[in-house]
Amino acid sequence: MNEISMDDLFREAKDAALKAYAPYSRFRVGAALLTEDGSVITGCNVENVSFGLTICAERSAVVRAVSMGYRAFRAAAIVGLDSKNPVAPCGACRQVLAEFMPPAAPVRFGSSGPALVDTTIGDLLPANNPLELPE
Ligand code: THU
Repeated sequence: MNEISMDDLFREAKDAALKAYAPYSRFRVGAALLTEDGSVITGCNVENVSFGLTICAERSAVVRAVSMGYRAFRAAAIVGLDSKNPVAPCGACRQVLAEFMPPAAPVRFGSSGPALVDTTIGDLLPANNPLELPE
């Protein structure tokens, strides 16, 4: 990775978590994506009184990045500020991240505690179908 390290990406995710709208769970999450051109796009969880309409930090970052014109991410970091243990992305977010990341792309997740998990999107979502467009 060129100028942005996983440590940098993690710090950006932590900053983004401060923007979380999480009045119901009080569980603030931030995500940061590294784009192909070296930009960092962040997201946070945005909850809703209906609960079910809550959007996670990871999907908020992906939707934001794609809306800006980005289509491929080289790495992702996720931070759950109100947890002592690393906060792993939910199943829906793994699938949405995998849409725009190659299986070997690194994913780091953590929390306010010292433990970090370093993995790849392919390990988080094994046996995912590659993109196949109809002729
Ligand atoms: N949440 C995320 O934003 N990302 C995750 O990876 C785990 C869960 C959010 C959803 C909800 O607003 C709160 O955390 C509690 O589940």
